[in-house]
Amino acid sequence: MDKVCNTFQVSVENVTPSLPCTNECTLLESLESHKLEVHSHCREGFCGACRTKLISGTVDYVTDPLAYIDDDEILPCCCIPTSNLVIKPG
Ligand code: FES
Repeated sequence: MDKVCNTFQVSVENVTPSLPCTNECTLLESLESHKLEVHSHCREGFCGACRTKLISGTVDYVTDPLAYIDDDEILPCCCIPTSNLVIKPG
């Protein structure tokens, strides 16, 4: 079944207001497509380098995150937005 393509507004706290990000690629790829630099390394949820605070909103993981994250943190390299987000890179 085809996945519904949605676009959400993602703001990076103290850096940028809303940027459109689709659920067709990972949050990390979306942020990079807007020329935002997010620290990353493995890009597969192992290393935790991209760990980011989720201030508000919800995400879904396309692959299970293996790196340790707190309840209020996400790994942009392996998640997609499922609502508008406010995030704060660590
Ligand atoms: S880049 Fe390694 S966990 Fe995201």
